[in-house]
Amino acid sequence: MIKIAVLVSGSGSNLQALIDANLSGKIVGVVSNRPNAYALERAKKANIPSCIIEHKDFPTREAFDDAMQKQLQAWDVDVVILAGFMRILTPKFVHAWEGRMLNIHPSLLPAYKGMHTHQRVLRTGDMWHGCSVHFVTAELDAGQTIAQGVVQVQHHDTAESLAARVHQLEHVVYPQVVELLCQGHLLYQSNTQILYKGKILKDPLQICQI
Ligand code: GRF
Repeated sequence: MIKIAVLVSGSGSNLQALIDANLSGKIVGVVSNRPNAYALERAKKANIPSCIIEHKDFPTREAFDDAMQKQLQAWDVDVVILAGFMRILTPKFVHAWEGRMLNIHPSLLPAYKGMHTHQRVLRTGDMWHGCSVHFVTAELDAGQTIAQGVVQVQHHDTAESLAARVHQLEHVVYPQVVELLCQGHLLYQSNTQILYKGKILKDPLQICQI
């Protein structure tokens, strides 16, 4: 069985969706870099071991990442899932988990990497928005996108209403992609090549639209 660790910093609604999804893999641990992250409560309720590793206790990003790496090794983790984890990871850590670490980002990547995606979508006047799941690579939000969920932007949308719909979609899309990884249906070959069920993935899987 694939052993999963989930890295969080905040509310952990994506963690909750993964817990509720009854994945074929097992979530063996949750790491938070913030002691008051609500995600920790969710882990506790689900009887999942958790661990707080506060980045501010470490002199460098490398030292912080090394501490996380130690914990992940102690849990004998196979796959790392970033779920609202708000720290930039060092190239060493990313390299150690290359092809085995996923992130979800609230935009239709490659559009709108980084922060404040909902506001930026509204400002541009886009018709479509959504979320993307990708393998994590050293460059921020730049790994090849595996799957997306799409949201139609309505004329009355605000950043808050859009964020809420995208979030809802994330909870559908992320567990499905994590399950594909657990089942061995996703194979990372390089930064630009992923195999999905044995075939090269040319375009992101479209999992859901609302
Ligand atoms: C989500 O919007 C995700 O796309 C982004 O961080 C947020 C995490 O939300 N990476 P939650 O903590 O899972 O509720």
